[in-house]
Amino acid sequence: MNAKELCEKSRACLADFTTWVALDSSNLSAGRQLAVKYFIVAVILFFAQLLFGMIAATQFIFPNFLYSWLDFSVNRMVHINAMVVWMLYGFIGCVYWLLEDESGTDIVGLNLGVLAFWVLTGAVTLVVLVYLFIQIGAGNDTTIWLINEGREYIEAPRWADIGIVIVMLIFFYNVVATFSKGKWSGIAGVLTLDLVALAGLYTAGMFYMTNITHDQYWWWWVIHLWVEATWEVLVGVIMAWSLMKLLGVRRQIVTTWLYIEVALMFGSGILGLGHHYFWIGTPEYWLTIGGFFSALEPIPLVAMVVHAMYDAGTHSFKNSNHPAVAWIIAQAFGNFFGAGVWGFMHTLPQINLYTHGTQWSASHGHLAFFGAYATINIAFFYLAIQHWRGDVWMSNGMPNAWRWKWALGLLNAGVLGMTIALLIAGYEQSFIERATEGSTWGGYFSAQNHPSFQSAMVWRWLFGLMTFSGLVLLIWDLLTIGKGETRKTQEIIEH
Ligand code: HEM
Ligand code: HEM
Ligand SMILES: [Fe+2]
Repeated sequence: MNAKELCEKSRACLADFTTWVALDSSNLSAGRQLAVKYFIVAVILFFAQLLFGMIAATQFIFPNFLYSWLDFSVNRMVHINAMVVWMLYGFIGCVYWLLEDESGTDIVGLNLGVLAFWVLTGAVTLVVLVYLFIQIGAGNDTTIWLINEGREYIEAPRWADIGIVIVMLIFFYNVVATFSKGKWSGIAGVLTLDLVALAGLYTAGMFYMTNITHDQYWWWWVIHLWVEATWEVLVGVIMAWSLMKLLGVRRQIVTTWLYIEVALMFGSGILGLGHHYFWIGTPEYWLTIGGFFSALEPIPLVAMVVHAMYDAGTHSFKNSNHPAVAWIIAQAFGNFFGAGVWGFMHTLPQINLYTHGTQWSASHGHLAFFGAYATINIAFFYLAIQHWRGDVWMSNGMPNAWRWKWALGLLNAGVLGMTIALLIAGYEQSFIERATEGSTWGGYFSAQNHPSFQSAMVWRWLFGLMTFSGLVLLIWDLLTIGKGETRKTQEIIEH
């Protein structure tokens, strides 16, 4: 290619990019434009999550890699905090997306919502810069306020915590005021109550206690009760709405399922919290309570799989958006296996005694977070993109369909591969460090230096790379899918 062609090509790419970046507001309501803003930041943070995951995984193999520049502790922190934040961005985006449609009216307090988005995004950027460039503090109040709170998954310093709470209040106001002005529905009711619980629980991770047992006791209220209760319910709501739009499922059916799932989820997930209280210094009765209720937790997840199959079956799969529905199916199975099966494996205290805090937990953590929450967000990105492009055809015979299929395959196979590698490492740790060597310091090192642990870390790296390439392909696909498509989607009628 000569210089002139190159120049023209890059100009064309730039023009394409600018038309893409400029939101085509003729296709999107103001509320949905706000949702898209949230989705864009979610995808950027998803990319950051995996980038820092790759660096942390490299450090498992080459411990000197970036040592004293970007230590493992920092990379791990960015990896998992970016995950929590991108998923929350995704969820907020989903809610803004469905709000006007579900309530039948325009968003109330939209300008405040837009302002909150910029405040939150500014705060997140600042917090990440502090994590990367300041990294650590003196371990006193100033550090808690300005650098890092030191609570795994929700490490944001206190000033940012307070900001997050304010932004959540604005978001909550948008939701409640809009439903109140328009109409309420079963979905709207469950959503609103769930948001109260979700935001309220966040405050349990905001106060500092000198006793580490007390501190962890409350911290788990956020972490466990989020992912095993309020986030699952939020996914139920998003799923219910999406199934109506994508497959034309009857409202009565999704709402009934939603109530059943919520009852089961809260029935088992709230006291299931006890499975994190086995060994942190809490009273012994938690062994029984935690073991019993958390063992019931897979039941609602089975209900969710049955629900998805039922809807697909009774509506003979009239599907208006192939990638979105494929990711919804990935969610039903990922949630069931990652949370239900992988969680159940180590939830009884008799087993957890050996597996606690090994790579077994990381194996479950990866499959559960990806299977339950990354998938549904990705499904929704596809749903949003389709509408954004003007309700274009995204079913059979769509051009470049290989991209979404390969992205789906690489991401799922990559995460599954990592999960298995980590499970092997966790099994080896439980066996050698815990069972054989009785949890001694020496036992820890024997387990870390064992060939099956070390080779598992290499496999995790390789499958991590597969996951990462899947994400790159996914982003490319999201940027281009449906572009230039002139055929309209087939009409899916909500009953
Ligand atoms: C989507 C839902 C779920 C997600 C995202 C999730 C995620 C996680 C994560 C990330 C951890 C590690 C926490 C840490 O850093 O210490 C963890 C721990 C644990 N999870 Fe889950 N989980 C989910 C559902 C479940 C369910 C349904 C069960 C039980 C049936 C379960 C059982 C456990 C247990 C027992 C631990 C403690 C592991 C240990 O002792 O080290 N999880 N979970
Ligand atoms: C490029 C792919 C990925 C790589 C290389 C990677 C690597 C890592 C590493 C090295 C850790 C620290 C483990 C430890 O402290 O022993 C970690 C933790 C974690 N990662 Fe990933 N990760 C990747 C993708 C993901 C994805 C897609 C998710 C979920 C959506 C995820 C969720 C988590 C969670 C929840 C933890 C904390 C686990 C625990 O404490 O038990 N990661 N990851
Ligand atoms: Fe839990």
